[in-house]
Amino acid sequence: MTIPCRFIVNGSAVSGSFPPMRRLLDVLRGECGLTATKEGCGEGECGSCAVLLDDTLVNSCLVPIADVNGREVTTLEGLPKDDPLFAAFAATGGTQCGICTPGMIMAARALLNDCLRPDLSQTREALSGNLCRCTGYGGIYAAIRTASGQGE
Ligand code: FES
Ligand code: FES
Repeated sequence: MTIPCRFIVNGSAVSGSFPPMRRLLDVLRGECGLTATKEGCGEGECGSCAVLLDDTLVNSCLVPIADVNGREVTTLEGLPKDDPLFAAFAATGGTQCGICTPGMIMAARALLNDCLRPDLSQTREALSGNLCRCTGYGGIYAAIRTASGQGE
């Protein structure tokens, strides 16, 4: 069984017929060809698949496409190229292997959209659903401080 779905991804309309439980993650990487969003655990535990759904951070591996109908999705590709988080992550060593990085940047963007100058406690809380096995998190936290104008 498929159902018709229409939604917006990074400002562009997407429509099609999908199995209702097909994961948003698979539609983004498959039908939409947007491969920045990564699959880590596939179980909602790692945050590597994080995107914004109507400005709320979600793990796209847990979102059935039926729930996206009529809504708006933003992936890493949809952020402005001059978003300060990109340069900050590169400058501070906030990315190494890169698997977690798209989800980290989306979580960081969601945080900065809500809070212009988050402190370390707020940053840790906001990124608590995003796992990184490489950086030890120091570079990631420094990137968010830098991007929010608080130095490293
Ligand atoms: S792949 Fe979605 S939370 Fe890990
Ligand atoms: S940079 Fe490798 S998991 Fe975070």
